[in-house]
Amino acid sequence: GSGEVALPANAWWHAERSRLLQLAEERTPRYAYHLPTVRAQARKVKALRAVDRAHYAVKANTHPGILKVLAEEGFAFECVSPGELEAVSAAVPESAPLLFTPNFAARRDFEAALKTRATITIDALHPIEHWGDLFRGRDIVLRVDLGRGLGHHQKVKTGGTGSKFGVPIEQVDRFLRLADDAGARVIGLHAHLGSGILDAAHWGEVYSQLAALAERIGTITVLNIGGGLGVPSHPGETELDMLALDRVLMAVRQAYPQFQVWVEPGRFLVADAGVLLAKVTQEKEKGSQVRYLGLDTGMNSLIRPALYDAWHEIANLSRFGEAATTMYQVVGPICESGDILGSDRRLPESFEDDVILIAQGGAYGAVMASRYNLRDAADEVLLP
Ligand code: LLP
Repeated sequence: GSGEVALPANAWWHAERSRLLQLAEERTPRYAYHLPTVRAQARKVKALRAVDRAHYAVKANTHPGILKVLAEEGFAFECVSPGELEAVSAAVPESAPLLFTPNFAARRDFEAALKTRATITIDALHPIEHWGDLFRGRDIVLRVDLGRGLGHHQKVKTGGTGSKFGVPIEQVDRFLRLADDAGARVIGLHAHLGSGILDAAHWGEVYSQLAALAERIGTITVLNIGGGLGVPSHPGETELDMLALDRVLMAVRQAYPQFQVWVEPGRFLVADAGVLLAKVTQEKEKGSQVRYLGLDTGMNSLIRPALYDAWHEIANLSRFGEAATTMYQVVGPICESGDILGSDRRLPESFEDDVILIAQGGAYGAVMASRYNLRDAADEVLLP
């Protein structure tokens, strides 16, 4: 309500400590998702005045409870595989629009998507050139590569010749001719440059570049300016300024009022809503400086630190508020040296069976988990 001081987005788990400890006593490893945080983030996206349709990029987290909440908040859904389309169709009402935005998908994937209500985005010449029969009489969206990528790590940049995504600008005319031959209508343009972007100006640039291209093409009614909205992850990073983003988008909208605007964020909606709960298994010292703190799960549940050197806050929930006296390498039980959840983390001195929380696990956590070493998957619970 008014007058309340807003907590930082990741602070919910401070207040929910006892509930989380109880959940961890029942079972670890375990993801917990705080639905009020999902709703709060959803409303920030829905408040963008220039946006006509917001899709949730479900690859970030496909838990049905999260899909349901986002449907209630008025979101549409962006899917990249038949499996994601199935998961969404099972969880959300028929009225929620779907977008299918695959990359190097097989013909059979498009066939499956065309049986649903999804709008299809095509990001290469191949489908329209070789499978044109599928798209006859259809409205399609063209994903273009604007020639540059952005993001929190090289591996999540999705533009430029170093990336496999999108149709390069110089091939757009060829795509349009092929679409015409196939009898498909290109009604939208799409660009997504990468993930974990904290600079609001970025989407204004993408939007105006797409709009200028769309004016030249003539049949376009929709511009999808992608996802990639970041959340601060390292200490000291500042959050994406949503009011600045609103202004940036409105400025372009005024210059090009003829186009509808779509977005498709994933991380922004769910990252801070999720935490991974684990328990301490063992401790080990090597030399006088290095102390390993072992947990009952690692890169098998959360691969982001191993894959992108991603930084996730780590807290000892059993000793919350105690002085952080000890420097740890926080590791999992997987047989790989890269199985690290956090290096050089100062924590209270920790003991077997303490409950450890790894923050910001709501996005690209459970969905990227593996059964490596035949470890059981972390389960997932909702905090309503
Ligand atoms: N749209 C497209 C076409 C995408 O490829 C993606 C993400 C999104 C939207 C949503 O991006 P977001 O808003 O979540 O940044 N596993 C990596 C992130 C990979 C993102 C892949 N594409 C990570 O854990 O950082």
